[in-house]
Parts: sequence; C-alpha cells; structure tokens
Amino acid sequence: MRRTTTRSRTRSGRARSALDAGYDECRRLVRTTRPTEYALMQLMPPVVRPVSWALYAAFGYADDLLDLSEEAPRERGRRLREWRAALEADLASGTSDDPIRLALTDAVWRWGLDLGDLLGALDAVQRDDDRKGVTTWQEWRERAHAQNISWPEQLMRMLVRCGLPVPVRLRDLAGFTRFVEGLFLTDMLRDLPEDLDGGHVWFPAEVLDRFHVTPDELISRQWTPAVQRMIGHLAGEAREWLEGSRRALRGSLPLGPAIVLDTAVDLFGAELDAIVRAGSAALRRPVRVARHTEWRILAPARARAAVVWRLTLPPGRDTAMDTAMDTVGRAGADGSPRDDTAPAPLAGPERHTARIAEPPLPPRPHRDGARPPAIAAAHLPQHVAIVMDGNGRWATGLGLPRDEGHRAGAVALRDVVQGALEIGLPHLTVYAFSTENWKRSPDEVSKLFAIMRAELLDGELLDHDVRLRWVGSPDGLPDDVVNVLRSQEHATRNRTGLTLNVCVNYGGRAELAQAGAALARAALAGEVDPARVSEQLFAAHLPHHALPDVDLLWRTSGEIRTSNFLPWHAHYAELHFTDQPWPEVDRRDLWAAVTAYTHRKRRKGGTTTPTVPTRAPGETEG
Ligand code: IPE
Ligand code: IPE
Ligand code: MG
Repeated sequence: MRRTTTRSRTRSGRARSALDAGYDECRRLVRTTRPTEYALMQLMPPVVRPVSWALYAAFGYADDLLDLSEEAPRERGRRLREWRAALEADLASGTSDDPIRLALTDAVWRWGLDLGDLLGALDAVQRDDDRKGVTTWQEWRERAHAQNISWPEQLMRMLVRCGLPVPVRLRDLAGFTRFVEGLFLTDMLRDLPEDLDGGHVWFPAEVLDRFHVTPDELISRQWTPAVQRMIGHLAGEAREWLEGSRRALRGSLPLGPAIVLDTAVDLFGAELDAIVRAGSAALRRPVRVARHTEWRILAPARARAAVVWRLTLPPGRDTAMDTAMDTVGRAGADGSPRDDTAPAPLAGPERHTARIAEPPLPPRPHRDGARPPAIAAAHLPQHVAIVMDGNGRWATGLGLPRDEGHRAGAVALRDVVQGALEIGLPHLTVYAFSTENWKRSPDEVSKLFAIMRAELLDGELLDHDVRLRWVGSPDGLPDDVVNVLRSQEHATRNRTGLTLNVCVNYGGRAELAQAGAALARAALAGEVDPARVSEQLFAAHLPHHALPDVDLLWRTSGEIRTSNFLPWHAHYAELHFTDQPWPEVDRRDLWAAVTAYTHRKRRKGGTTTPTVPTRAPGETEG
C-alpha cells in the first residue's frame, strides 16, 4: 500500500511505518499463499482491501502454526495459544510489535470489527489442534462454518459502514453457508498434497467409508479407482455447493458483493476442474489454474467491479484506504508522540484526528432516487428530535443479536441525516443512549458504544455539512467515547449546515436538576436573585442551553412515550409516533414526518389556527 497524501509525502525517504509494513506483510502472505483469494480481494473497493489482507493473513498464519508438521502436537497448540493471547493483548492496547497482529489490530480498531466473532473463528481453528478428523458431514460443516464465516462477514460489515445499504448478516442469507462449505471443500482438495505430507485426512470418515477408501491409501498416494471416484465426487460436491449458493444468493446481494461472489464461484470452479484433470498428480503437488483461464474470468470481473463500486458507494468510499489511514488516526507503532505530520496513535485522550471532507460533500442521494419534498424554509420545523427506538426488537425478530439492531440503526441514522441535509433542516437531535440505558447488559452497552465510536470516527457524517454536538453527561462513559465525541465536536465546529445533536448518556430530569443546582450556586454566590428566576434564566442554566426548542418530536417502534427525552426543550413539540422499528426507517420517513408537521395547527395556547402549508404533494400524517 502506498500512501499518496501530503502527510505521507512528508514522510517519504524515511523508513516505512510499522503499520504500512504490517499491511504489506499481510498482502505478501495472501498473495503468495492464496493467489485466488488475493485476486478476489482485489475486486473489493480499495478501502476494504488492506483489511481483507489483514484478516485473511491472520487466519492463514494461525492455521499455518497448526500445520508445522515438524513440531510435536502439544508444541503447535501452545504456539497458537500464545499467538492468540498476544493478539488479544494487542487488541486491547491498540498496537503490536508483530506485523500481522499490528495490521489486524489497526483494522479492528479502525473499522469497529466484531472482535468476539473473529476470536471465535480463531478458536475454531485452534480446535483443529487435536488433529482429529471428523466423522460425519454434519461435523465437517460445523467446522467449516465456525472457521470461515466470520471474516467475509466482517468485510461485508465494512462495506455497510462504507455506505452500502445491506444491514444483514451474511450468515443469515440463504445460500451463504453453502458457499462457505463449497469454499472449504475446494480449499481442502487444493491443500491435499500438503495435508497428506503432514499425515492428515480432513474429509469426513463417512465419505471415505462410502467409497471404500482408507486414510492410509490416501497418505501413501495410491491412485486407485476408488480414490479417483472419491476425488471426482468431492470435486463435484464442491462445485454443486458453490453453484447452488450462487443461485440462492442471486438477488439478495447488492451488485458489488454479487460480482465478488460470482467471480469466486467461477475461479474456485476452475480450480476444481484443474484438480480433476490433474488426476493422480492432485495428490502429489498443488494444482494451478491456467493463466489464460484465470485472466478470462478476472479481467471482466475487475472492470465490472470498479464501475459498480463507483456507482454504489458514496463518493470517497470507493477509493483507497490511504486517506482514511492518514487522517482517522492509526496505531502509534513506533510510540512516538504525535505531531502535525505524524499519524495519530489510536487510543487514549485527544488521540483522534477527524477525517473531514473540505469542502463538505453534497448530500448523498437516496439509493432508490427518492427526492425530497419541496418545503419552504419558513414552514420547516427548526428542530426535529428523534427517539430512535426499536433496534433490539428489530434484531430479535430476525433472530439476530441485539447489537445487530444497533448496527442497522446506525445505517438508518446515516440515511436520515442525508435526508435532513437535503431538506435543509437546521437542527436534528437524536436519542442514542439514555441515562436509563445503563440498566442493559454490560455486553449490549459496550457493543453500543463500540458501534457509536466507530460511527463517529469514520461515519459518513464527516463527509457532509454536519456540525456535531454532544448532549449528555460524561459521568460513567468510557473515556474513548467521551474523547471521540469531543474531538468530533471540535472538528466539525465550523460547519454551517445541519447541527446534529447526539444525546449520549442523556437524561432529561438530570439536566433539569443540573440547571437547578447551577441556579442555586449562582444564588448563593449572590449572582442571581431568587425572586428573578424566570424561564429564560432557568434555560440559561441548563447544561446545553444552546439547544433550541423542539418543534417536532418523533418516536419510532410504536411506543407512545418520551422516556426522559428533552422535557424542557420539547415542552410544546408536535408529537409524531410511527410503528416501524428504527432500523427500517430511512430519510423518506423523516420527510413524511416533516410534511405531516407542516399540516399541524400550532396554537401554543392561543386561538388563531395558522396552517403551515407545504409545496410537497399532499401527504397526510402517517
Ligand atoms: C433503541 O433501540 C436504541 C437504544 C435505546 C440505544 P432499543 O435497543 O431500545 O430497541 P428495543 O426498544 O429494545 O426494541
Ligand atoms: C429511549 O429508548 C432511549 C433511546 C432511544 C436511546 P428506550 O428503549 O431505552 O426507552 P424505554 O425503555 O422503552 O422507555
Ligand atoms: Mg427501546
């Protein structure tokens, strides 16, 4: 990876940073040991590629540690356990002295990847440590899933974070697990010579029995008719699973990932053909697909992928990670203090450098081309506040863990922010975490914060004309969340478009009590005469006194309450309740809410009933 920004130019001539070297090492490993997978990774948007090298290299490395055939099994297992423990320590500290772990740590931090899921997959690799083969296809499948679903899933998550609207987990798509099985079996056939060198047969015993093949026959490379039939059968199975997954996934994947999948099926199919054609040689040495075959598959795929990513990802997200690497903040691998030209280390106070697009990009259009209603500025609400509710129920309803709901909720918020920019809304306030939400499980809370942090660090709002304000208390919040909120507030302070107030650790009553305490202190100090405490004076003592009154308060997910949200500011807000859970919302729902608002008669205690007409096609309250 070669960085091209000014900052990296200032570093040219010096030794490459440890992080660059880490990613380069991962790339080298993948390219030399798994050229097919490497070619597939190069079909991903450039910003995703380094992470895919890091993920794949880490898994490959762990796998290779177990394959060190010259070592005693116990020794191999110990090495892998040590490596995993070191990785966990690196992930906690945000840096590493090992190139592969450094790249992986950076990728995990930068993109908010699901650590639990990744470590779980590593553990599944480690379970192979016993070197015991499996008996049934069922066991074989479980092993295939446990080891291989996590990392493509993380890549998909990155694409979602880049703005691709697919808030689903790959593992829930019919056909995806079949794809993983096809890939695992192809890999096993391709690795056969090496595995047999180590004395391992990984096919399930039931298939050996069915073809009357013994492990010893394979290990001694006897090309009997039975062995030939079995290899042919296994290659056929792998091809059928891959093709079946292509049929099942067609239509449920967005274009970009669909091209990668399609090409994977073609390339692995070509490998299977080559293995079958190689006959007995397939037991002895690795089989390679002919270059021209590879080229015939890859050349058109590359061209299509490049166009599709450009069309489907928001501007800037289809390009290299270099920009993000230099501006988001990165692992301080050399431990040097930060200066204006050096990249920032990842963790700790004041260590986030915002990636700000200057000038800000125009709003990203709606993915189906929906256009905003034309509402005159005079008729727009000045301040819309949203209780983004229903993430958990949405996820549970789909059989997903609750944090997937929060993740999908973040995607929904991105779209709503774009819609707010499109209609020129001045203030949007969203309830992200209430003081009551501490009652949730520590696991949910920490995942929520991880999602929030990742979103704030690298969400698309930084690309647009959004000024971020944090509303809430630092009490009890993790330092890294406080830091990222403060640094992004600071970074966006000169933006003049939408002010996005994010309520994190916010409680309405706590806010009122704080204002009361501040007034009492001022009275004791003789600065305030209790007899003169007016509404205005009280409001001036609120911790977030710059927040304007709320005109429209909207809550999703069918709950009809305000849950301690903005009691002072929303005292005369128009209320709007909708049934859909927050992850299902997009900007069109904001426009419908705002349009409905324009039909409200806001008397505010008076008798005149001014209507607020709109130039939008006549929509009524939904
Ligand atoms: C809202 O969704 C998000 C937060 C409170 C952080 P919920 O997590 O409350 O989802 P439900 O209400 O349980 O479905
Ligand atoms: C309100 O939702 C808080 C946020 C959306 C952050 P909750 O889901 O926490 O509220 P209750 O528990 O339904 O009142
Ligand atoms: Mg809720």
